Amino acid sequence: MALIDGKHVSAAVLEDLKAKVASLRDTHGITPGLAVVIVGDDPASQVYVRNKVKRATEIGMLSEKHELPADASQEEVLALVEKLNNDKRVHGILVQSPPPPQINERAVIETILPSKDVDCFHPVNVGKLLIGDEDGFVPCTPQGIMTLLAHYHIETAGKHAVVIGRSNIVGKPMGVLLSRKSTRANCTVTMCHSRTRDIPSLCRLADILVVAIGRAHFVTADMVKEGAVVIDVGMNRIEDSSKKSGYRLAGDVDFEHVSQKASYITPVPGGVGPMTIAMLLTNALKACCLAHNVAV
Ligand code: GUN
Repeated sequence: MALIDGKHVSAAVLEDLKAKVASLRDTHGITPGLAVVIVGDDPASQVYVRNKVKRATEIGMLSEKHELPADASQEEVLALVEKLNNDKRVHGILVQSPPPPQINERAVIETILPSKDVDCFHPVNVGKLLIGDEDGFVPCTPQGIMTLLAHYHIETAGKHAVVIGRSNIVGKPMGVLLSRKSTRANCTVTMCHSRTRDIPSLCRLADILVVAIGRAHFVTADMVKEGAVVIDVGMNRIEDSSKKSGYRLAGDVDFEHVSQKASYITPVPGGVGPMTIAMLLTNALKACCLAHNVAV
């Protein structure tokens, strides 16, 4: 079994981005700007947002966090997004999901200018993704997974990929990317979800198994074919009184046992998670370059 080290690969991506941000500044006097919006005080979202802003700043981007209270109105959120749409220093806008229940997330996403939609959640960008239009964005988590597969030279063409989960953030775009007509993809994709009959049997057919279901240790060793590539997108918080924070992170895969059958596997933490931020910043740089019509 080989470990897929997302920390290592993301560090290399961030180093490359840092050099490109410096070159943009030196050559064109441009600094890419990323605005991150968080509504409410969900502890996990707070951590993710803090990390996104921190990493963006570390690679030399202009990064600002906008916090709105948990009882913010739809109008307040939309007004903030519109202000950021009109701010020339801001090239990328991200509104952390999920927002509190009074917020209509679809309406918020559709208010973000597609050219600043670095999450690739706007219907225009989702459509571009589906038809393979290169000037849109690619959603961060699925793109992080594709980058890991490429980095480890994992053969995908003709392989059977099984994706567990059909969310707009991970499962659906993952299926689109894996089935693309490209040397780095060309998989046959099966998508499993809550209504799928006999998920274990389908999983056992997978050469590449991507698990994004949000249930700790859902995939057990008996569900995995010998030699399969296993990608774990799970970030489940499990109570653990021995930890200072009071919890530990667990993936959707029973790593201890599945790792004995897999050819490659991502750990949690340190697998897919760090890649997501690296891809977000890749998209922010792309948004900046497109806005200024420059290349790096
Ligand atoms: N919540 C969990 N993952 C994501 C993400 O990639 N983007 C946003 N905006 N919210 C998230």
